[in-house]
Amino acid sequence: MAITPKMSLLIKNCRLSIKNKLYVKNILIRNGKISKITSKEPKADEIIDAKDNFVMPGLIDCHVHFREPGLTHKEDFLTGSMAAAKGGVTTVLDMPNTLPPTTTIEALEEKRKLAAKSIVNYGFNFGATTDNLSDLKKAKNIAAVKLYMDSTTGELKVDDYETIAEIFKISKITIIHAEDISVKTAIDIFVSNKIKNKLHVAHVSSEKELEYAKQNKIKKQVTAEVTPHHLFMNEKDLQSLGAFAEMKPRLKTEHDQKALWKGVHDGTVDLIATDHAPHLKEEKEKANYPFGVPGVETMLPLLLDAYNNKKIDLSTIMKLCCENPAEIFRIKNKGILKEGYDADLVIVDLEKRQAVRNQDLLTKCRWSPFEGKILKGWPITTIVNGNVVYDDGKINDVKARELKF
Ligand code: NCD
Ligand code: ZN
Repeated sequence: MAITPKMSLLIKNCRLSIKNKLYVKNILIRNGKISKITSKEPKADEIIDAKDNFVMPGLIDCHVHFREPGLTHKEDFLTGSMAAAKGGVTTVLDMPNTLPPTTTIEALEEKRKLAAKSIVNYGFNFGATTDNLSDLKKAKNIAAVKLYMDSTTGELKVDDYETIAEIFKISKITIIHAEDISVKTAIDIFVSNKIKNKLHVAHVSSEKELEYAKQNKIKKQVTAEVTPHHLFMNEKDLQSLGAFAEMKPRLKTEHDQKALWKGVHDGTVDLIATDHAPHLKEEKEKANYPFGVPGVETMLPLLLDAYNNKKIDLSTIMKLCCENPAEIFRIKNKGILKEGYDADLVIVDLEKRQAVRNQDLLTKCRWSPFEGKILKGWPITTIVNGNVVYDDGKINDVKARELKF
């Protein structure tokens, strides 16, 4: 069912966590926004019964590769966003390593048009190169600048320290892909140049990298991200999965995995993002396979399963997947359930037990490194801008919006 903007929608019997206390309340949505969170039952054009299930803000995934333009055999904005909706993710920030890469104003404007087919809200990370500083300054309405300090899929590596410092000075937020000692190098350049902007360290994968980030968490200027695959897998999984568990940065030891979980609990980790990096099965089966794994559809089920195993609480999931991403990437009116905020939310069934199955996946690549894993806790209905875009296995193709920064 598509709710047109003028219509209202009442979601009844929502189990909500407000300031860490649980309540059952009704949510009235009007004009795509949360109009009331109430114990009363206001009239509405449409009603959904959440049946006392937990209702949380839609997840904000600041790190996805939706592959458009140029790599649409792997994913596109429609399939990627359908996978996101099914996974309870209502906002994504796309990465620039497409073909052409999003490193020029023309490429950004081209991607902006292509992304209009998305059914979840979206924003763009602009790619830095050694010679596009003038484009970085001109780029309009971008979430952040992505800087690759190590080689990965695409050709976007910058390794000249002066250029890196310039990029930090120009960009309100720089997201770095840096591994091992490069994390330290990036932070050192950032600190020694007394940068006033922000530095976000993508996919921290080891104790050492987390330690570098932790030492410099001055006023939240340096923030750290971890991925679900580094939290829920380690290098032992390479034995059974081979190329299907190969990504940048690579899976680390069990010791590192534990350190990341510790960071989740002690606040050193600021957010969880998927680094959803789909590649076709056929590509992964080749000798020179590409790095990356899909993840946007399985992040929330994995975390809800971890909640059921007492490894994380719901408030931490919401903090790391909704509130903090909105705050760090200055995404207005999202990330919490509050009157006046955008009606981006997800109803989850904390009791539902189901295996991850490749045939159920909506990502174009149709495989997951977690295939076969039985998880307890699944999203059942996802609402974006007040529209039901996913409900009980079915997608409803209502277009979403570009974020405004
Ligand atoms: C990413 C991809 O495939 O685009 N791969 C990966 O292993 N993470 C590239 C990247 O962001 O590093
Ligand atoms: Zn990535």
